[in-house]
Order: sequence, then C-alpha cells, then structure tokens
Amino acid sequence: MISGGAAEKVSRSGKPAVVAHRGASGDLPEHTLAAYELALSQGADGLECDVRLTSDHQLVCIHDRTVERTSDGVGAVSEMSLAQLSELDFGSWHPAGTSASVLTLRDLLTLTLDWKRPVRLFIETKHPVRYGSLVEQTLLELLHEFGVGSPPSADHSRAVVISFSSAGVWRVRRQAPMLPTILLGDTARVLGGSAATAVGATGIGPSVATLRHYPDLVDRAAAAGRVTYCWTVDELADVQLCADLGVRWVATNHPAKVRDWLVTVD
Ligand code: G3P
Ligand code: CA
Repeated sequence: MISGGAAEKVSRSGKPAVVAHRGASGDLPEHTLAAYELALSQGADGLECDVRLTSDHQLVCIHDRTVERTSDGVGAVSEMSLAQLSELDFGSWHPAGTSASVLTLRDLLTLTLDWKRPVRLFIETKHPVRYGSLVEQTLLELLHEFGVGSPPSADHSRAVVISFSSAGVWRVRRQAPMLPTILLGDTARVLGGSAATAVGATGIGPSVATLRHYPDLVDRAAAAGRVTYCWTVDELADVQLCADLGVRWVATNHPAKVRDWLVTVD
C-alpha cells in the first residue's frame, strides 16, 4: 500500500490489465510470433511491440536500430528490405528459441484481431529514425486498412499508439483523433508537465522506476482525464505498487506470472 489507506482503494476502478511486453519475452525470443501466441494463451489483455520501417517501407516489429542483438544478421533495419530481413533468423539467439522469421506489424495485427478474446495492441513508434513522420503515416494507413484506425472511443480501441516522441504522438492525435495514444517517458519532468496535454495524449507511460519516485503522476494524469501505462513491471513489489496507485496497464515480460500476482495483491 502506498498511501491513503482503504478509502483510497475504494476509489480505484480495478486492478491493472496486463500487457505482454514484446510478447511473453521472458520466456521466448522477443517480437516473435511464438512469443505473442504464448502471451495470448497465458491470458494477456494486451500486447506491446516496437515498430520500425524497412527500406521498402514495411513496418516490422524490431526494438533495436540494428538486427545484431536479435537475429543472425547484421545491419540497420532501415537499410534492409523486408525480403532481406525475411532471410534472417530472429529466434535462435534466445536460449529457449527456435528458428523464427521477422514479424511484420501486419501479421501481428492479424494475430491480435483474430484472437478469440478482444486484445489491445500497443504499438510503439521509435524516434529519431531515418524515415521520421513516415512511420506514423504508414502505421495509420495500416490501422485504417485493418479497420481499427477510427475507433468509436479510446476505450473501445483495439490499437494504442505509444511513443517517447511527443511529435510522434501529436502526429497520430492530429490525423486519427479517436485513437488512444500514450506519451512514454522516464522522467517526471516530461510526464508531469504539460507535454501530454500539448500533444493530446490519452495516457502517460512512465517507467516503473519513475513511478516509484513520483507516484502522484497517476493521480495527476487521472485528474486530466488520462490513464497510466507503466513499464516494465516484472517484480511483485512493482505489481503491488501499480495496483495500489491505480495504474490502468502494466507492461511486463512475464504476463503469466504477473496475472497470477494480480490475483493475490489486495
Ligand atoms: O512499453 C514501453 C517500453 O517498451 C519502452 O521501452 O526500450 O523497451 O521500448 P523499450
Ligand atoms: Ca517498446
């Protein structure tokens, strides 16, 4: 319990929902179809992915600027075509992994939207990048193609665009005003100031370390009508912290474990 006692709990609207960060990436290689399928089978409420544009302007789910850490190839994602990336193995580097293809956002959207339960996809655009605003433009075109670019409300949206880039969030807000957006940050200066208001973000996304130092961020966001999404929440004490504060979404590499913990936290 952080502060406020039982009365504060009563005002909270339930426990956080669980977002699988890069899939069930504590168990399987991040950003692979297998990692996302495992997260879904473990009951994740949402999936998180990072996206980048290939040289032929396809959105792929890769965190790093280059492919070295998570594949058997070398080079920058932005300088490789989808066909070139498709020749690489993105799974075998991981101790529990087997051979896996690069995952396109198109394929992850298909998996998410076809799943038997409604699941939300949190799509993170990385900046600064070579293609700048073309990332959000391409992303929005894809979301519209899948019929999820203009939800009836943020609450009913199957897609959420998240970014550390205030410009990136603003581009989405301006072009797709009904889509929920989360301004990520690892300082209270960014998230507790006027930045989220200025870009029209519907949520803030502090790291768990930031939230531990500045727990009032959640209430300040709520007072402005914004939800809080916290990352990366892998420890029991951090799950408890987020539950106590009224965080709406917790992103974790261990969705099954965090779901179990959420049953036990009061
Ligand atoms: O979900 C937000 C979180 O993923 C941001 O950090 O570096 O893991 O993309 P990073
Ligand atoms: Ca991310």
